[in-house]
Amino acid sequence: MDAFEIEGGARLAGEIRVNGSKNAALPLMAASLLTDQPLTLADVPDLSDIRNMRHLLDELGVEINQPQPGQLTLQTTDTSESHARYDIVKTMRASVCVLGPLLAARGRARVSLPGGCAIGQRPIDLHLHGLEALGARFQLEQGDVIGHVPGGRLVGNRIFLGGSFGSTVLGTANIISAATLARGTTIVESAACEPEIVDLANLLNRMGARISGAGSPRITIEGVDQLGGASHRVIPDRIEAGTLMVAAAITRSELTITNCPLDALMAATNRLEAIGVVVEPADDALSMRSKVRISAGESLSPCDITTQPHPGFPTDLQAQFMALLAVADGHSVITEKIFPERFLHVAELSRMGARLFRQGPTTIVSGVGRLVGAPVMASDLRASAGLVLAALAARGTSRILRVYHLDRGYERLEERLAAVGARIKRIGLDEHESPQPKVVVRKGIAPAYQP
Ligand code: EPU
Repeated sequence: MDAFEIEGGARLAGEIRVNGSKNAALPLMAASLLTDQPLTLADVPDLSDIRNMRHLLDELGVEINQPQPGQLTLQTTDTSESHARYDIVKTMRASVCVLGPLLAARGRARVSLPGGCAIGQRPIDLHLHGLEALGARFQLEQGDVIGHVPGGRLVGNRIFLGGSFGSTVLGTANIISAATLARGTTIVESAACEPEIVDLANLLNRMGARISGAGSPRITIEGVDQLGGASHRVIPDRIEAGTLMVAAAITRSELTITNCPLDALMAATNRLEAIGVVVEPADDALSMRSKVRISAGESLSPCDITTQPHPGFPTDLQAQFMALLAVADGHSVITEKIFPERFLHVAELSRMGARLFRQGPTTIVSGVGRLVGAPVMASDLRASAGLVLAALAARGTSRILRVYHLDRGYERLEERLAAVGARIKRIGLDEHESPQPKVVVRKGIAPAYQP
């Protein structure tokens, strides 16, 4: 099982490019189920989640080729299989985004219920509610949701998609994908406004769909009889971009980030500026493919962060900003409003000397100036990113165990960070091998609170 070994304290310098977005690419790939014509996607990152989605679509009759790195062609050639099996769904919860396209195109779907994961319970009730409003019917059997469409074609409807924690990103993706082929018009109210939804609507419109309002809470879809092929370039990954910005800030470095979706990152850059980090776009216009210079001095100010649906501060950057605020000059408050249990990184950051006091969905971060290296365990994708960032700035050596979590969402992160000066390498660890990095204990460090 791979681990990262990181010698903290190196300054970063140079230029680093943001890859295509995983969370945009997954529903875009699932859109191939809506047509028998070829889709070509560019800038698809090479990640384990993408490979899992390829595997799933392959089982569902989609032929996938990779003519060159980052480019995929997807074409449905066989519609006989409509079962997303537990074996795949359990490795990647986002598999649920095949549900809407399968029901719309094949009138049937069997998708294993994703279940919870390290960041929380993660129900799909809103997905099912929306698809039922379009005429689908569901039953539960052997942990699988089995759906069918009486009459074979979905029918447009008005759907309110808000839940206790706001809207749902993949739920919105499922409903708008399904509604493209429904008879009549669908209006989704309280739709997710995330940039990944805009990207999906753009691809679907290129395929012949008639979707307006994506990016706002009300999306209107006029159903069409069929969709065709299209070519599309995946938007850059806003969470990877935000993670790289924090890498520059936490190491008090200057880094230029290219292909940066600055237009989708205003909540994050607003917080970075409050912390005292300088964010300098190369030109004035905010774009989804900006070039931006990030720099930070020795002193970082504390600030408060509340995660919210887009355009609020993204939950997927919460762990990374916690690492940054752990070395700021005072007290910060982080409140998690999307996944209230998403705090597994708190205990691991505490092992590195962070002073964190968690109470329910809120964690108080008392900055300690400098963290210390330690062996720590990655628990989920973004928590792992937070630990890598903490280790980059810590005194001494850290080992981040179980980086397969990180590999789900960051392509060759260690190589790319090493290319801008980080002292980081991937090592293969036997599960039974005891990780014993050199841990430097700083005199006078406040004892970490272990929640
Ligand atoms: N929710 C419900 N019912 C539902 C669906 C969601 O109550 O039917 C709740 C969730 O439990 C959560 C909130 O609504 O409290 C938002 O969940 P959402 O459905 O928006 O999450 P998702 O679509 O499953 C995507 C990203 C996540 C990201 C969230 C929130 C993908 C593949 N995943 O998940 O990304 O955290 O939106 O922005 O797009 C990650 O990349 O690390 C990651 C977890």
